[in-house]
Amino acid sequence: MSQQQDLLRDAMRRLNLTRDAFSERLGVRRRALDTWLLPDDSGESRAMPEMVGKFVAEILQREALGAVVAGGAADDRSIGQRIAAEGKPHLLSVAQFDRGSLEDLFQVADIMQPIARRQKVTRILEGAVLGSLFFEASTRTRVSFGAAFCRLGGTVCDTTGFTFSSMAKGESIYDTSRVMSGYVDALVVRHPDQGSVAEFARATNIPVINAGDGPGEHPSQAILDLYTIQREFSRMGKLVDGTHVAIVGDLKYGRTVHSLIRLLALYRNLKFTLIAPPSLEMPPYLLELVARHGHVIEQTQSLEEGLRGADVVYATRIQKERFAGEEIEGYTPEFQVRKSLVDAVCKPDTILMHPLPRDGRPGANDLSVDLNHDPRLAIFRQTDNGIPVRMALFAVLMGVEKQVARSMRDAGWRSPAHIGPDDADFDGLD
Ligand code: NCD
Repeated sequence: MSQQQDLLRDAMRRLNLTRDAFSERLGVRRRALDTWLLPDDSGESRAMPEMVGKFVAEILQREALGAVVAGGAADDRSIGQRIAAEGKPHLLSVAQFDRGSLEDLFQVADIMQPIARRQKVTRILEGAVLGSLFFEASTRTRVSFGAAFCRLGGTVCDTTGFTFSSMAKGESIYDTSRVMSGYVDALVVRHPDQGSVAEFARATNIPVINAGDGPGEHPSQAILDLYTIQREFSRMGKLVDGTHVAIVGDLKYGRTVHSLIRLLALYRNLKFTLIAPPSLEMPPYLLELVARHGHVIEQTQSLEEGLRGADVVYATRIQKERFAGEEIEGYTPEFQVRKSLVDAVCKPDTILMHPLPRDGRPGANDLSVDLNHDPRLAIFRQTDNGIPVRMALFAVLMGVEKQVARSMRDAGWRSPAHIGPDDADFDGLD
């Protein structure tokens, strides 16, 4: 048993995690971890399940892999330096990450959880101002970036839409970006043109985050999606390696799935089933990229076939606003992920995801609301995870991630233990 205690203590030390953060990371209750750490002679000490031991070993192995760069030398650069875009602290594409830097970012997100869950507060970004420029529709991305910055102690100035921005007067991206840089300390930008956020980034030295560039990428969404998958899997004792991910919907214009499939490709031996209406299939360059990493890809138009046995089902909305002559109006009902089909072909531990918004209009046939009471539906755990992940992104891009843990104080107010009336038991904030 003392071997078990040593293993756990060593893991916490090497991962630099508190007991709270470590039990979060393992997806186990803090109380369970405490009993595994008790001395043998205590009447309350327990043996940890073999699966947890394996998972701890896997985390440590990944840490070690991430710490070693080509040539075998340890990489002691910060996460921000390792993911830099042309030497600058921007987040433009998931291609900036490797598995090591991604896992390290998740570790920072874990540290943010008590703040995101309203138990702790920090003022680490006190005085910093975020500029939020959204030239396309958004609710969650815009507000969650803003809330994440505020929860780090910063404040937010924003503009939404072209109509009320100087771009409507013909101002260039270069000028807008340079002007904003004089006002704020970081920029989050959403714009309808692919590549446009990179153009903002070239015109400034302050951090720029791509919050969606047309049909291009949406890196923070994919990062929070993968973080959600990892957390769900760790609760179930599953690993991302070797998993089966079914992705359904508008795979041509859906930027969230473009970023997600690239991130998942960093893992090993995945199977993807891609289910799309005709003319909305995944772009060939992404299929090639995923295949080059040795993953299996199957494309089908049968939802039943594609969902069978999947560990993760990721549904997306038809991106009608991006259509260039495509005939289709919405999904036909055969493409709707609904409870009867999920019950028939998915497993009890399959997780159901969607970047949201769900299109609830008649004929859209997007992810069905009849799954709302099903604990496999992880869509609001995804949105909740947007806060710690975006806090982690700001912290690493602004170089304060090491100071966060020390800076935390108890929150002075109380929140309900469950913020949604339909939340599953494990969604609780405590
Ligand atoms: C997505 C987007 O904007 O790409 N929304 C989001 O940010 N969660 C998905 C969509 O609009 O369908």
